[in-house]
Amino acid sequence: MTGTPRKILITSALPYANGSIHLGHLLEHIQTDIWSRFQTARGHECYAVCADDAHGTPVMLKAQELGITPEEMVQRTQAEHQADLEAFGVHYHNYHNTHSEENRELCSGMYESLKANGYISQRTISQLFDPEKQMFLPDRFVKGTCPKCGAEDQNGDNCDVCGATYSPTELKDPRSVVSGATPILKDSEHYFFDLPQFEESLQKWLKGGNVQPEIANKLQEWFEHGLQQWDISRDAPYFGFEIPGAPNKFFYVWVDAPVGYLASFKNYCDKHGVDFDSFWSVDSDAEVYHFIGKDITYFHCLFWPAVLEGSGYRKPTGVNVHGFVTVNGAKMSKSKGTFIKAQTYRNHLEPDYLRYYFASKLSDGVTDIDLNFEDFVQKVNSDLVGKVVNIASRCAGFISKKFDGTLLLPSQLPSELTDMQAASESIAQSFDSRQYSKAIRDIMALADKANQYIDTAAPWVTIKDPEKQQFTQEVCSVGINAFRILMTYLAPVLPELTSKAEAFLNDKLTWDSAQNLLNNHQINTFKALMQRVDMDKVNQMVEESKEDLKATATAQPTGWLAKDPIADEITFDDFAKVDFRIAKIAKAEHVEGADKLLRLQLDLGGETRQVFAGIKSAYQPEQLEGKLTVMVANLAPRKMRFGMSEGMVLAAGPGGEDLFILEPHEGAEPGMKVK
Ligand code: 2FM
Ligand code: ZN
Repeated sequence: MTGTPRKILITSALPYANGSIHLGHLLEHIQTDIWSRFQTARGHECYAVCADDAHGTPVMLKAQELGITPEEMVQRTQAEHQADLEAFGVHYHNYHNTHSEENRELCSGMYESLKANGYISQRTISQLFDPEKQMFLPDRFVKGTCPKCGAEDQNGDNCDVCGATYSPTELKDPRSVVSGATPILKDSEHYFFDLPQFEESLQKWLKGGNVQPEIANKLQEWFEHGLQQWDISRDAPYFGFEIPGAPNKFFYVWVDAPVGYLASFKNYCDKHGVDFDSFWSVDSDAEVYHFIGKDITYFHCLFWPAVLEGSGYRKPTGVNVHGFVTVNGAKMSKSKGTFIKAQTYRNHLEPDYLRYYFASKLSDGVTDIDLNFEDFVQKVNSDLVGKVVNIASRCAGFISKKFDGTLLLPSQLPSELTDMQAASESIAQSFDSRQYSKAIRDIMALADKANQYIDTAAPWVTIKDPEKQQFTQEVCSVGINAFRILMTYLAPVLPELTSKAEAFLNDKLTWDSAQNLLNNHQINTFKALMQRVDMDKVNQMVEESKEDLKATATAQPTGWLAKDPIADEITFDDFAKVDFRIAKIAKAEHVEGADKLLRLQLDLGGETRQVFAGIKSAYQPEQLEGKLTVMVANLAPRKMRFGMSEGMVLAAGPGGEDLFILEPHEGAEPGMKVK
């Protein structure tokens, strides 16, 4: 190791205790695990912790549906999550859940400090309440008719059809998703955290290199709108921790979830005699990193550092944000079989394949990571099987059969081997800065050189020449050492392949292994280290994911009309007023803070319009750019929370990922009238 050992604590976002681990989760856990394994291999004191996110209304209701207690459900789900993560080689020093005593104590303590420091206030608010279920309804548990366009069956906070956002109290004909009853408005006293008091220190923290520059920029929008008081309480019934001194009031799940990072670590420290405070006190010299997806940025980069500061803890050294997983260029889709659970993947494919593929695509940025199946099969087969493992399999047989399993290096080492050793620090730098794709590219370039060396030396020819026996042994020993160095660099990425390689090499790999070559060393018999990926297996996995969906689908009404009855008749004159035009989607982008909306720039052939469309559940922005579609061009502009919407695009489908924008035939031109 170079330099002094660092003290590092790493976390991944805590998976909710009401669903299975899928490819989206795996990207993050694999990214975290590679970093953690790398830091450990470098000799640092590094801990990685995670937990199940146990609290909140969805967990409570799912447990009721299953007829079990939430505690039981958390236990079951946690066991499933841990088994899945372990199978993917994801190693946490501790995996806990947020419904733990450590978390209860830490939350209460932090809350008391926030209160004593003047950051908590109380006020009465009015919310929708289910009179049958006797509970307040979170936005996603209310449905009704859109107050703006009249579309039925819309969510509590925004409309899929016209893209409007509103408060659930504005919905027409609201109904509770839980019981079907009509909600009533009811007052309740809530507790608020005074986020605005932290504006200055948050700005300083954001600009101090603790988050990626694009995240710091994006978060400026929240400051421009003005930071708001954060509602941290929920009324009973709620599965969570009761707020001290406030009977029947519970901490909102997003309060105790990040505290769960500390609680899981505390649980570990208590068992292993590690000094918790030296990681979390204000004057700590340890580093703390959270790995998260971009959808939960503001919880981790605004509320969380403010809560930590307000309650007397240190703030994170870094919040490392990654993008979403797409499959074959599109959002993961249950109906297409690309919403793949960890368990389903495991039934068909090796975890190391996915770890390698994700590593080969990951950088320190927040762009989405596409799992393209063709590319996946090609990359794993060509890089891992065809380049890395191939080096060992080409050389091992001769060493075992002809040279008694003994490695013997030439006195003059070839540059292919010394170049590999010299690349150590630059590859380490790529891993440390989370530029995994660069590390992989550099490692594969070294593998290419090693293969060329073996091609040129051709040990399968020289082995036949009695004069060239030592030469052959030396070439194959260089090959095996090259394989060993490559595996040293790849070890954080490929735990399963590494342990097989270690057994074959009769050696234990750490980062420094690259600098100490194996000479006069006995290796073991070579066994196949990795199978090629078979596209048929990928297809079977997709089919099984579709089966999963069929098994869990509830009965649907037959035909779309059953769900969306034909609306009241209109006159021809009404219809004639609507001006449909062909529009080209010049630009499409995510809207920070909007769950359903994409911001589109539509080119009408000489005029550009901004339209917010509720199609995020079905499309990635990059899939839309350049497409032609149909828009209502004479709709009065509407001011929405995110800006003006100047028209509407037409889409069909039941919603969710099955929503299809209308795409005219080629030949249509932007601006053309649709007749
Ligand atoms: O978005 C989620 O899946 C949350 N369960 C993540 C929580 S991360 C942390 F704050 F606990
Ligand atoms: Zn609407």
